[in-house]
Amino acid sequence: MNARHANPDPCILVIFGASGDLTHRKLIPALYELSRGNGGRARLPERLAILGVSRTPMSDDQFRDKLRGSAKAHAAGFDEASWSAFARCIHYHAGDAASPESYPALADRLARLGAEHRLAMPTGGANLLFYLSVSPNLYVPIIGSLGESGLIAEGKRWCSIDPSATPWQRIIVEKPFGTDLGSAQSLNMALGRVFEEDAIYRIDHYLGKELVQNILVMRFANSIFEPIWNRSSIDHVQVTAAETLGVGSRAANFYDTAGAMRDMVQSHLLEVLALVAIEPPSVFDADASHREKIKLFNSARSIEPASAHESAVFGRYARGKPDEPAYVEEAGVDPARRTETYCAMRVEFDNWRWAGVPFYLRSGKRLAKKLTEVVVQFRRPPVNLFREVDGVGEMGANRLIINIAPTEGLELHVLGKVPGAGLRIDAANLNLDYIDRFGGEKVEAYGPLILDAMRGDRSLYKHRDQIEGTWRICQPLLESATLRERIEDYATGSWGPRGAEALLARDGRAWHNPA
Ligand code: BG6
Repeated sequence: MNARHANPDPCILVIFGASGDLTHRKLIPALYELSRGNGGRARLPERLAILGVSRTPMSDDQFRDKLRGSAKAHAAGFDEASWSAFARCIHYHAGDAASPESYPALADRLARLGAEHRLAMPTGGANLLFYLSVSPNLYVPIIGSLGESGLIAEGKRWCSIDPSATPWQRIIVEKPFGTDLGSAQSLNMALGRVFEEDAIYRIDHYLGKELVQNILVMRFANSIFEPIWNRSSIDHVQVTAAETLGVGSRAANFYDTAGAMRDMVQSHLLEVLALVAIEPPSVFDADASHREKIKLFNSARSIEPASAHESAVFGRYARGKPDEPAYVEEAGVDPARRTETYCAMRVEFDNWRWAGVPFYLRSGKRLAKKLTEVVVQFRRPPVNLFREVDGVGEMGANRLIINIAPTEGLELHVLGKVPGAGLRIDAANLNLDYIDRFGGEKVEAYGPLILDAMRGDRSLYKHRDQIEGTWRICQPLLESATLRERIEDYATGSWGPRGAEALLARDGRAWHNPA
């Protein structure tokens, strides 16, 4: 059976980094939402245990208590009865996951949990899904310790008479996946020494967003888009992820050494772009779509570090209201690093479909609106039939907007005759709001993504070559001293630095900045 249709397998989800922010704000609330049925048909496996691992000593009940507060604060909906039912599968184990000495006790705990929740497989223990929700400097030590622990026996599984009766071990790896091409390659190698590629789940919560998933459905379940989805009809594409909040307390431990390029563009936006730009996969499965994405990233026109400032712009937010410090005033920021809180870039693909069509990506903090969208700007008609009609003049062109967040839907801008005497032409919107049309509650993307890992479906996860492909595109920008020297301050609540406007203006284009 195609993994997409399988039920999630019973397993133990082992979360390394149980006391961390991600576990509390996203992972547990997302899983709890699924247990309440918010995900529609996406349901947790009937037999499941969740084991949080961190260094702080704590009992199962103490851990559950802490998580209860997090679920209450962050899940869509909360009630005591469903929480108590869900919390029964949650457990806690104190240990240092980066140290091989901790693993005999962990293995012992896993064996006991397997028995308690009736999770043991006919030949061996329970299926194990490890989740690396820890600081990235712990990834390699944890992967290495897992390798030495004897818990990973994936190779033996494929040699067994009935692999489906033998437990699997999989690992979900959070972003940031490396800090540049070299470190991403090293991390891929460390993972490859312990896990098979198809047991490695490199997560990107953007790929779990409904409207991001819908891009392929829109393109390939309809026949009207594909014939015009190319350089003949499309002028350019914009992908925007704008946020209104600043970096705040994340500056010290993470953001100041990462910046918007690594935090958003390499990790999320290029992946969204790929769904807009790939060729149709031969089948709807993980391998086929990974192949197309890798092919696309490999066709990106190389940017030279020496001229990277012609293809990109970096900015950082200036001081806003009294409680909104400039980025350089945030605690833990070293202004000399010139870290960008805004990045815009232009990418081109040298392939038959897209030659000459620029893709513009931008993301920033403290901008005018919280908004994630893709804008596909079509060309104008080859001839303006109405050019001599009084008052018509130069006409606009069609535009398709894929609203990813906060609204979810599609908007198609079409030109029409304004009712009344004479001929006046104006743009109007055909609007499809997904929640209005299809109903259902919004579900935190992490939940369905974790279920995919439990059913062995990597379609919404990233292949190693895909990650390395996106780093290859971004690497010259990271290496450009000029780009960093020219970093511009931008006003809080604006749409970013002036240079970003100029980047498009040079090509005779402008950003789509919704009012
Ligand atoms: C994370 C970034 O991956 O995505 C954050 O590290 C960013 O800096 C967040 O705020 C945005 O996600 P979303 O789903 O709110 O658009």
